[in-house]
Amino acid sequence: MDKNNLGLPIGTTLDRFITRKQDDFPYATGELSQLLRDIALASKIVNREVNKSGLLDITGGIGGKNVQGEEQQKLDVIANIRFIRALKNGGQTCAVVSEEDEEIVHLNPESRYIVAIDPLDGSSNIDVNVSIGTIFSIYRRLSPIGQPVEHSDILQKGKEQIAAGYVLYGSSTMLVYTTGNGVNGFTLEPSLGEFVLSHAGMKSPKDGSIYSINEGSWNQFDQPIRNYIEHCKEEDYTARYIGSLVADFHRNLLKGGVYLYPATSRAVNGKLRLIYECNALAFIAEQAGGKASDGQTRILDLTPTKFHQRTPFIIGSENLVNEAEGFVKGKSKVNSEAS
Ligand code: AHG
Ligand code: MN
Ligand code: MN
Repeated sequence: MDKNNLGLPIGTTLDRFITRKQDDFPYATGELSQLLRDIALASKIVNREVNKSGLLDITGGIGGKNVQGEEQQKLDVIANIRFIRALKNGGQTCAVVSEEDEEIVHLNPESRYIVAIDPLDGSSNIDVNVSIGTIFSIYRRLSPIGQPVEHSDILQKGKEQIAAGYVLYGSSTMLVYTTGNGVNGFTLEPSLGEFVLSHAGMKSPKDGSIYSINEGSWNQFDQPIRNYIEHCKEEDYTARYIGSLVADFHRNLLKGGVYLYPATSRAVNGKLRLIYECNALAFIAEQAGGKASDGQTRILDLTPTKFHQRTPFIIGSENLVNEAEGFVKGKSKVNSEAS
């Protein structure tokens, strides 16, 4: 039996899958299972809203900015509300930290789980009908149950995650998640309204030939990153960049490739957020046999010091991440320079 998917056949519903996984843990109380179901429910609701975009007045900006100074799209706000409401109603979450909220959103103090979420990833792609996503991480609180959640509960290293996942609103809608025992992907069957197992035991190819980076920022990149991009071209890699992290990551996970959002002269710590985006995908990447780094350090070993902290990010197939890291650390040079 495959330990990743418990031998459950393709087509198994997410609900049944979660229940079977829970049976695997002798002392499991079912709370995490319920929390995962709450997230799946919210993502179905958000999927419904996403699919209406263009029909109703839900695309475009709301004229406000989020805590990171970025323009909020209407769907960013809608998705944030939907996820938080589902987590509140589900009752298994004591606190949520969201890319869209400045401070901790306190929910049920009697619960043991913390959720970190990027409710809508790839907002610039909403209005143009291109894939977008949701990213989530689940942690166990450190403070005692019943007490107010503290900052230290939120500022845990990524390696402390007990579950993480993403939802991709793409040509089909998928939910991919891990509880630290492999990665499984579920596709939404729209007529049933159910996620069904479609990608059992997902594995990141060790190698690949796709590189994903916003090359429009070339003038802002430092020399090691430029050298790595030149190397990718010399190796005849294929460039693919959607501008939705979830979609870029998912493609590279299936096909083999590397995604980079490095530090730039404008974004000196990179753009992506450690707690809402990078940690979850790093956990999934590692669980699938891939790798994630800030160029120097494993992402899951970084200690967050603030909620909305950003980090340079390199993620994907192990050999490609190693290769890119080699350039960042100055151990590799592009051939044309070396010759
Ligand atoms: P978000 O929509 O949650 O703010 O995230 C956008 C992120 C990420 O999805 C994407 O990979 C990246 O921004 C694209 O940034 P550039 O436009 O600078 O390439
Ligand atoms: Mn994002
Ligand atoms: Mn977002």
